[in-house]
Amino acid sequence: MNLNLYLIAATCEGMGIGVKGALPWKLKNEMAFFASMTTNTKNPDKKNVVLMGRRTWECIPKKHRPLQKRINIILTSQTLDYGDDAIVCKSIPHALEIIQKPPLKDQVERIWVIGGSSVYKAAMESPNFHRLYLTRIKKHFDCDTFFPPISNNFVLTQDPNIPQGVQEENDIQFVYEVYERK
Ligand SMILES: NC(=O)c1ccc[n+]([C@@H]2O[C@H](COP(=O)([O-])OP(=O)(O)OC[C@H]3O[C@@H](n4cnc5c(N)ncnc54)[C@H](OP(=O)(O)O)[C@@H]3O)[C@@H](O)[C@H]2O)c1
Repeated sequence: MNLNLYLIAATCEGMGIGVKGALPWKLKNEMAFFASMTTNTKNPDKKNVVLMGRRTWECIPKKHRPLQKRINIILTSQTLDYGDDAIVCKSIPHALEIIQKPPLKDQVERIWVIGGSSVYKAAMESPNFHRLYLTRIKKHFDCDTFFPPISNNFVLTQDPNIPQGVQEENDIQFVYEVYERK
């Protein structure tokens, strides 16, 4: 199976992604974009993985987790058990190992890395990195969690299947960008 890592994140001016364990903004359409990108599959018999750090999992309101119609994988150094809600892994390579084996091997279409900071960093440094879908919100919000620096090895690319140009919601402007390695 394909072990490419697709990252998806939303950042404000200054590269903030979170504050006090939550998103600093409320953008319904942007959230719907995240949901459709991470959920939709070409093969209706398959699902996508959403790979996240333990704190990002805890930030998802209880009524919305596990993220539905997706295979939830949580990275942690602790021995935790989320039952049927989520699979626990020690690192990105460990998660890729599990995804390559039955029963996930034949179930997974795409792997989406959904944060937070150190998981994005590890995924961008991984040989399996494929693409970063980054929503750039053109406004400053106070944040305590930030997206890691994007290396000069990353270049903007196009995905004709995503909304193009400046988007606007609640008087806040944002653009959907896509990055690949040079
Ligand atoms: N704007 C966005 O797109 C976006 C996306 C996601 C999250 N967020 C926001 O970001 C904040 C949460 O993110 P965060 O950066 O604080 O935390 P996080 O990365 O979600 O979680 C950190 C924890 O995950 C585990 N972990 C991280 N990297 C690991 C690795 N490579 N291998 C094994 N375990 C690993 C560790 O868990 P243990 O401590 O259990 O070992 C670590 O303490 C919230 O405010 C959330 O709302 C925003």
